[in-house]
Amino acid sequence: METSVSRSVLADPVITALFAEMYRSAGRDDAGVLERAYSAAAAQPAPPTVEEVTAWCGEAALPVAPAVGRLLYLLVRILRARTVVEFGTSFGTSLVYLAAAIRDGGGEGVVYGSEMHPRKAERARVNLARAGLAEHTRILEGDARETLRDVPGPLDLVLLDGWKDLYLPVLEVLEPAMRPGTLVVADNLDMLPDGYLDRVRSGGGYTSLALPLGDGIELSLRA
Ligand SMILES: C[S@@+](CC[C@H](N)C(=O)[O-])C[C@H]1O[C@@H](n2cnc3c(N)ncnc32)[C@H](O)[C@@H]1O
Repeated sequence: METSVSRSVLADPVITALFAEMYRSAGRDDAGVLERAYSAAAAQPAPPTVEEVTAWCGEAALPVAPAVGRLLYLLVRILRARTVVEFGTSFGTSLVYLAAAIRDGGGEGVVYGSEMHPRKAERARVNLARAGLAEHTRILEGDARETLRDVPGPLDLVLLDGWKDLYLPVLEVLEPAMRPGTLVVADNLDMLPDGYLDRVRSGGGYTSLALPLGDGIELSLRA
């Protein structure tokens, strides 16, 4: 008896070629940009503003590690997620993983991206269109602390991958739209401020676990 096995969007040659290009250009371009941003920050007396850091990193993709992207894909599929929110879209790598999972799960759902840098938001839109996944995404341009306020809940999954000192304020913006069982994936564990980790680890209404994927992630389940 023959059985037909449908293939994930992640195996689509258009998507694998897009990921290869995204990670190749990130490997080539990101290091120099970050080094210049660190020197600019060190050269000024006051800590840089969110707008300054965003401008300095305007050419850096800083994508999630491929393993984190695949975890995001799996979580969206396992949860049968319908509403997904991403803080920090950049050129759209994680958004492609998330939107691919929505498509493979039947296509009923939306991933809300958020990006402060207008050129990065535009490039993300182009990349999602190239991936054929634009219909499953809405990219909100501007400061996520404002743009994510109106996302309709209940949220199934949240990815936090913008500037690290904003994880807690963005989490608080999103909490009213969460439900019991909303999953929060916070990328770059080694860079997370204590305030965020205290909140999700110490009785702030979450059950939380650190996982050694990519640069480390904190996976938290809303009570
Ligand atoms: C690490 S990158 C995101 C990478 C992306 N998730 C991916 O996998 O391709 C962080 C992005 O967050 C954006 N960002 C930082 N703070 C923001 C804010 N307050 N609102 C919207 N975007 C912000 C930056 O401009 C930057 O492009």
